Amino acid sequence: MVRWSRFLHAAHEAALEAGKMLKLGLNERSRVIFKGAIDLVTNFDHRAQEMILNRLRESFPDHGFLAEEGLNHGERREFRWIIDPLDGTTNYAHGVPIFCVSIGLEFQGRIIVGVVYDPMQDELFEAVAGEGASCNGKEIHVSSETDLGKSLLATGFPYDVRMSPVNNAVHFNNFLTRAQAIRRCGSAALDICYVACGRFDGFWELKLHPWDVAAAGLIAQEAGGRLSDFDGSEFSIYGPEALATNGLIHDQMIRVLQRGKES
Ligand code: IPD
Ligand code: CA
Ligand code: CA
Repeated sequence: MVRWSRFLHAAHEAALEAGKMLKLGLNERSRVIFKGAIDLVTNFDHRAQEMILNRLRESFPDHGFLAEEGLNHGERREFRWIIDPLDGTTNYAHGVPIFCVSIGLEFQGRIIVGVVYDPMQDELFEAVAGEGASCNGKEIHVSSETDLGKSLLATGFPYDVRMSPVNNAVHFNNFLTRAQAIRRCGSAALDICYVACGRFDGFWELKLHPWDVAAAGLIAQEAGGRLSDFDGSEFSIYGPEALATNGLIHDQMIRVLQRGKES
């Protein structure tokens, strides 16, 4: 019997429901509001968040919630849901079919359940702490690539890329000539799930938020991956740096990231 199965079931039902709604809405013209110069939100982000919250609140009225679109309550509660209702909003607003719903559950400060649903591929990634990770019910594992030079990496850029010099350009440039190739798909949660199932060998990004990484981080870890910050220190969903790899190229990536920090 899977531990925490009640929570896992609720998370995946909520992710499926919101994901299907998002898929249907993709070709409708979404209403876009700019939160910053290039940071946007659509009416579909809000609709998906509402759907997820309604469902989870009904089942777990005393849990806390942290969700991207303006919800942060219950920080000290034993259980807290951490939700990105639409990871890949820029893609979504342009009709690019690469996005997902991400739902993680924190228990006493530790993520115990993670669900990421990609409605366009109909892929549901799930993990429970200590129980492994799966995609559509099949166990998944990270890749076995040991050579950074043969690795396919993924990354993204923060929304303050125009204003801040700490914008990932240096690291991107450094990896460009060291890895086999780099992808910038536009959904950090999916990127990390792709590390979990061996499609990507490594992923790094700066200034992500807890809702980008809570669910996917657990999925990658449970699939045998390694997570840390850019120094190799313990990963935190609240920290400014995320490095997720198959474990085998982790130290090689840290060396490149360190070089980037020194320059
Ligand atoms: C963004 C995506 C993107 C990453 C950004 C995130 P959003 O999330 O995950 O891939 O590069 O840093 O903020 O805004 O689409 O939920
Ligand atoms: Ca996000
Ligand atoms: Ca989002």
